[in-house]
Amino acid sequence: MKKFIAIIMVFALLFSIPLFAFSSKSTSTKKKIVLGFAQIGAESEWRTANTKSIKEAAAKEGIILKFVDCQQKQENQIKAIRSFIAQRVDVIAFSPVVETGWDTVLKEAKDAGIPVILVDRTVKVSDPNLYVCWIGDDFVEEGRKAARWLVDYMTNKLKWKGTVNIAELVGTVGSAPANDRAKGFRDVIKKYPNFKIIVSQSGDFTRAKGKEVMEAWLKTDLKKKINVLFAHNDDMALGAIQAIEEAGLRPGKDIIIVSIDAVKGAFEAMIAGKLNCTVECTPLLGPLLMKTVKDLMSGKKVPRKICPNEGVFPAEVAKKVLPTRQY
Ligand code: AHR
Repeated sequence: MKKFIAIIMVFALLFSIPLFAFSSKSTSTKKKIVLGFAQIGAESEWRTANTKSIKEAAAKEGIILKFVDCQQKQENQIKAIRSFIAQRVDVIAFSPVVETGWDTVLKEAKDAGIPVILVDRTVKVSDPNLYVCWIGDDFVEEGRKAARWLVDYMTNKLKWKGTVNIAELVGTVGSAPANDRAKGFRDVIKKYPNFKIIVSQSGDFTRAKGKEVMEAWLKTDLKKKINVLFAHNDDMALGAIQAIEEAGLRPGKDIIIVSIDAVKGAFEAMIAGKLNCTVECTPLLGPLLMKTVKDLMSGKKVPRKICPNEGVFPAEVAKKVLPTRQY
């Protein structure tokens, strides 16, 4: 009998230890979500704020973030996404530098069963189910807002007579914000035949290229013609402002300037009287992204498109609004 009890105790001990070990593990080390994020790069003040928002939100929500800065190259983004697939992350998110050329890599993610979320910029793909959802700003509407402000300002405030000659600094060629902002702006100005885009060139969303392109324009007879600059982002506008001043003209007066993003640098330029209006495009997408990642991982249905609300800030409100700006 004693022998029998001893055998039972040995068995109980043998089985209870692993059982205990398993249950204590499952309560103390709950598996954290791993998110791979392929960021475009660090081309603008906006992008820096976007990266900060994503990193801070991941840390706050206890999500492990594998972050890659892809230096504005599509091939680097594709490489980063492939490495996230190989590492078997739970979710992949990325801001596509351009709209096309993603079908193959997104199919690879889908085949691996890893959901993909687009952040900030969108893609054009043959099968819309290659990504789960898009969290970003309505770029077409931003272009429309810039044009509506411009038409109102030139017509009602400046009482402009005759043709309004517009120079357009375009964002990265083939990117969603460049394509959409150009479209939205044209949608509105085509109703006003005296508003004409006389020159349009890419400044790749950077301050340096914005300056370079404006410098080149002002060395030609465009110097006498340009009345307005529409820049697809604030950084290019800020670069162009330097070029305008160096050419002996007054930005904000000799050339009226409207741009997009609403970064702090744009507010400072408006307070200095060198920029006339900025349209908001929020980079603070981190909290929305982390919420969506968590919802996805807990099996909730997530909306296909998530767009935050955005404002328009003319120079008159810049001083009052600047202290409230987060980026
Ligand atoms: O995709 C958003 C755009 O990219 C921002 O307007 C610009 O500043 C950034 O580089």
